[in-house]
Amino acid sequence: MDIYTDVLIVGCGVSGMYAALNINNNCKVVILSKSKTDECNTYLAQGGISRAKDKDDIDLFIQDTMKAGKDKNKEEAVRVLAEESIENINRLIGLGMDFDYKDGELDYTREGAHSINRIVHSTDETGKRVFETLFKQVKNRDNITIYEDTTLVDLLKFKGACCGGIVKRNNGVDFIHAKYTILASGGIGGLFLNSTNRRTMTGDGIAIALKNNIDVTNLGYIQFHPTALYENSSEERKFLISESLRGEGAKLFNINKQRFVNELLPRDIVAESIWDEERKTDSSFVYLDASFMDSEFIINRFPGIYKECKKRGIDVTNEPIPVTPVQHYFMGGIKVDLNSSTSMDNLYACGEVSCTGVHGANRLASNSLLEGLVFSRRAALDINKNINSKDIIPLKHNIKLKEAEEIIDSNLNSVLSEFKKVLGEKEHELINN
Ligand code: SIN
Repeated sequence: MDIYTDVLIVGCGVSGMYAALNINNNCKVVILSKSKTDECNTYLAQGGISRAKDKDDIDLFIQDTMKAGKDKNKEEAVRVLAEESIENINRLIGLGMDFDYKDGELDYTREGAHSINRIVHSTDETGKRVFETLFKQVKNRDNITIYEDTTLVDLLKFKGACCGGIVKRNNGVDFIHAKYTILASGGIGGLFLNSTNRRTMTGDGIAIALKNNIDVTNLGYIQFHPTALYENSSEERKFLISESLRGEGAKLFNINKQRFVNELLPRDIVAESIWDEERKTDSSFVYLDASFMDSEFIINRFPGIYKECKKRGIDVTNEPIPVTPVQHYFMGGIKVDLNSSTSMDNLYACGEVSCTGVHGANRLASNSLLEGLVFSRRAALDINKNINSKDIIPLKHNIKLKEAEEIIDSNLNSVLSEFKKVLGEKEHELINN
């Protein structure tokens, strides 16, 4: 089937939906979700969203982001992120987002490597609430259509420019012809045996970029979150124990009940010291202890963590949680400029699939949803400038289901072999396809 739209957006997380909401509402937008819409990584985000507390905090926020990122960040992108943080959080509130408040003010929490408390949150289910807020708005917009269970097979191209995508949907192949395409297809955690990400997050955007010679960068910048719940199985994604629990005072201990690290150092440093401690004590985990904190505070402030741990027989108010580092986030990706534009004409990328350079080599906690907001809006505003004067190029194609399925398989194999090269001797951390 041929489908015609002004903008095609691949991905239904914060970046995909916020981009859609910022496209002129006289333009048709199609959003693709690889599985069900709420099965995106955004939905899983716990800690919150960073923002400069006020104009005076912008420089310190930039410094914290650069320091965590080992100064490998692109400074002008970090400045955009910090300067546009307040405006975008306010827009999100305007769209109905319900953050937690204390004494009439936004309640700011703390996570590793932030010099001050500057993370807004909604208990420990910030991502779920962001998803619900944006999804409600998207559903109310007549110009936006969502296709679930739809996988991008490849891009449609004409004279080197993107003009939409080939997708597998309803056991058939559709050709979605679009003036502009935005890849917001998320990260790579599904390629790893142990990750906090959904299993469906298999780096599809990176695979498609690689095969179309679209510039990608920093493929080795892969973040391990220090504290995922330790469980001895590799089938499912790992449950995250939010860094904000450490931000609120929870402490790390080795299995001999000894402290070994400052819990609020940057993520890579905390993850390294946990691995070290596991080696020294010949254990597969360390403990994160919040049991000395007020029980009522834990239950109200961290209901998701309390509930999920309880389901697994751990009472966080009473006993320490076994935790270990697992893959969490990808800082590299499709190279984009400050408007999220890629090296291919008419193609944008935002969110985890993209590399704006804001995170450097190690993302500062809670900067991911913020990057999604700031840079997807920038993509949309850039698209809005020319969209009305542009034509859709309706290309003819004839790809059958079997061929599309083979391309999807080969996308997965090619991205896996790329990350095997990147990981070198640590390649055993990847899934076997
Ligand atoms: C967390 O809550 O620890 C995760 C937040 C993030 O990845 O920035």
